Amino acid sequence: MRTPLIVGNWKMNKTASEARTFVRDFQQLFEIPADAEVVLAPPFTALESVRSSLGPTSWIALGAQNLHWEGHGAFTGEISGAMLLDLGCRYVIVGHSERRALFGERNTDVQKKVRAAVTCGLRPILCVGESLTERETGQTEGIIAEQLSSGLDQLTAADLRAVTIAYEPVWAIGTGRAATVAQATAVHRSIRAFLAKGWNDDAAATMRILYGGSVTAQNAASLLAESDIDGALVGGACLNPDSFAKIIAAAKRNPIG
Ligand code: PGA
Repeated sequence: MRTPLIVGNWKMNKTASEARTFVRDFQQLFEIPADAEVVLAPPFTALESVRSSLGPTSWIALGAQNLHWEGHGAFTGEISGAMLLDLGCRYVIVGHSERRALFGERNTDVQKKVRAAVTCGLRPILCVGESLTERETGQTEGIIAEQLSSGLDQLTAADLRAVTIAYEPVWAIGTGRAATVAQATAVHRSIRAFLAKGWNDDAAATMRILYGGSVTAQNAASLLAESDIDGALVGGACLNPDSFAKIIAAAKRNPIG
């Protein structure tokens, strides 16, 4: 079984004190741990307050939104994987389309970040996705194959076990226009086929492939019911404890293969 993974990407939202309030309210919504694995990915400045609010034995994991590929050194303003691990992070989002479009991250940068994360023991969530023009001109599969082959370059099948892939069509992020179940499923299947060809069937069958882009409490159940959609990377709808909890409740386990 691929355990579903629901990740809340807070982006540049919530101060450290707002984060404490969120975690308190959010935890009160669960009497028992959810069926899904859940990750909160607040800004760097709120990681410590989320960690201490969750407490040492929480079933909810901590993730970061970015990392630098070097371990330490003269890189003003950057944060290393070792620093994130030391703060209790287990996951890190890599290559989000906002980082690619607004901060000039290229496939080669994304590759170094994925590798740095795996090497230091973090679990990277590699984001891939096409723009609207790329979709309309029939380039979706090619663009995603390019992002995957570069992002996962030099990783072994064993390394891939630490990796999660998030399919996030750029045109669906923050627009209120999620991909249809059919659109998401078609791309998820092509990603799995790409992994089977580049590595092996086991790597393809065990990889968790998340969908992201305008996931809400309303559309989560239909997306997550698909056996090829193993979870969600949620932006806007994760900022409210109630709507995020509803999305988590919609997740179910998917059989491998
Ligand atoms: P959204 O963002 O849910 O607000 O569309 C998703 C993301 O960017 O990860």
